[in-house]
Amino acid sequence: MCGIVGMVNGHPVARDLVTALGRLEYRGYDSAGLAVAGPGFDIRKVVGGIPGLMDSIGNGFAGRAGIGHTRWATHGRAELRNAHPHVWNGVAVVHNGIIENYRSLRSGMLERGETFQSETDSEVIPHLIAAARAAGAAPVEAVRGACAELQGDYAIAVLFEDAPDRVIVARQGSPVMVARGPQTAAVASDPAALASVCDDYATLEDGDLAELSTEGVTIYDSDGCLTRRRWQKVEGAEDDGRALVYGSFTRAEIAAQPEALRRTDAKLRDRVIPLHIAEAERLLLVGCGSSLHAAAAARPWLECLIGIPCDLEAASECRTREAPLSRGTVGVLVSQSGETADILAVMEMLKPRNVPLVAVVNVPHAQLARGADLSWPTEAGREQGVAATKSFTCQMLALIRFGLAMGLHRGTVTLDTMVAVERELNGVAAVCARAEKLDLQFEAIAERLVQEGEALFIGRGSAAAMAAEGALKLKELPYLRAEAYAAGELKYGAIATVHEGSPVIVCAGAGQYANRTLANAEEVRARGAYVIALVDDASAAAFAPVADELVVLPGAGLGTLFAQAVAIQLIAVHAAILLNHPVDRPRHQAKSVTVA
Ligand code: G6P
Repeated sequence: MCGIVGMVNGHPVARDLVTALGRLEYRGYDSAGLAVAGPGFDIRKVVGGIPGLMDSIGNGFAGRAGIGHTRWATHGRAELRNAHPHVWNGVAVVHNGIIENYRSLRSGMLERGETFQSETDSEVIPHLIAAARAAGAAPVEAVRGACAELQGDYAIAVLFEDAPDRVIVARQGSPVMVARGPQTAAVASDPAALASVCDDYATLEDGDLAELSTEGVTIYDSDGCLTRRRWQKVEGAEDDGRALVYGSFTRAEIAAQPEALRRTDAKLRDRVIPLHIAEAERLLLVGCGSSLHAAAAARPWLECLIGIPCDLEAASECRTREAPLSRGTVGVLVSQSGETADILAVMEMLKPRNVPLVAVVNVPHAQLARGADLSWPTEAGREQGVAATKSFTCQMLALIRFGLAMGLHRGTVTLDTMVAVERELNGVAAVCARAEKLDLQFEAIAERLVQEGEALFIGRGSAAAMAAEGALKLKELPYLRAEAYAAGELKYGAIATVHEGSPVIVCAGAGQYANRTLANAEEVRARGAYVIALVDDASAAAFAPVADELVVLPGAGLGTLFAQAVAIQLIAVHAAILLNHPVDRPRHQAKSVTVA
């Protein structure tokens, strides 16, 4: 995780660095820091967010080259001494990733009398580089020499006290982009961070090194040869204004779902599936967090439309098990960021086994999008709130569109089914917009959940996935103890946790499961639960006598699922606001989880 940035400018660089860090804050916000080269180093570190860092630099810091970091703690608590940059003998380093052999490197250094300030794995890096520099290596060579001794993943930006006009960058495993603009050469974990200062960017490959100076960006490959990488336009960070109107990016992104869904649908509507993927005999759906839940929600639809078994697995487990795969398996890897370490590990595990890969991904330049055989993009737009919202509903839509395209190719979808599913897909954007209008009801539910401090979500089929997403949202934003259960599983033990007044949120839609879910709602009610039912119009009458609170959602069938997504998102946002928690930057989290 963590975000790194570095810049060489024709003018003092500190404020541009901090602005860029602000756009990387989604990657971690435990602490932040920067170093600007001088003469000497000017260094500032703060525990907590970027605004504090901006305040602390004031109008000082004249240096024209610098590096910055926003941290998600892995090794060592969120304390000032663990904040980056780490400095040793005239070398300052910011690091994203994990150095696996840091303990052995560090003990050798300690034996030589070197000292350390932090508990981090990162601090060994400036020690290695400074040693190479002291032995006479030029900045690029010193970084190359140090990298040869590192094991693990890293994107680093390095500043030298005795070469204050340049920044050196190296990458292995962790994503990083170099960028250029008028009078500026820069590096960042995400090019959007540099939108106000750079025009185009290039993604470094593993083993690459880059030198940023006033002359521009020079890139070397892993053999040390000058190389070129593909330059692309830097896209701006949109939605900033909306966050002001809605009070948070997350709330604005929930409101932006209708247009995001329309964009995604327009992008995918006419896409054709390549033959080697269309002929799949089995799908393996993989994701993390909300992306896993989107895959789980879409799974029954995919099985029905394509008529093949669809397995589902969390990426963190999938990479660990390396389970045998049946012939003809196609991997469908779902990720908003396309840089989550667990899902990338699954990609690397499946590739040598010749499993064709489809990436359902929101960030077009992400490693997952570039590494898969077929990129099947969501067009949610930049999502700045840490909790997935619009990317989640766009993933569901994209996956169902994928199922429809596969089914049409294979002849498993009849004309009638195609027309019906098309109609449902066309309707989901409007359904989300209508669901948002029930906000007052969601706020009242949030009040109840905050009061009780817990919630149990239940559902069946796709709605079980929605229950899981509801519980996740309630954990990640208001930090409430929330659990999700497939409604039919409750009776095998978990029902013991139901007590007088405990809130149970029932996700149900019309169709084959509604009656059974209703029976489960009756069962928890009979044990004193406070039942909150999120249902469609067709099942409202049946649920009315059982529910203490009945929310009749717009839409039917697929539409209900999307309306439920909006409902659980808004409930969680309201609960977080009631508890005075930061909606966009919930504790202990980061948007891109780039550590295993
Ligand atoms: C983090 C985010 C979640 C997201 C998960 C997977 O935990 O906070 O909202 O669902 O990562 O991220 P991905 O980018 O792979 O979808």
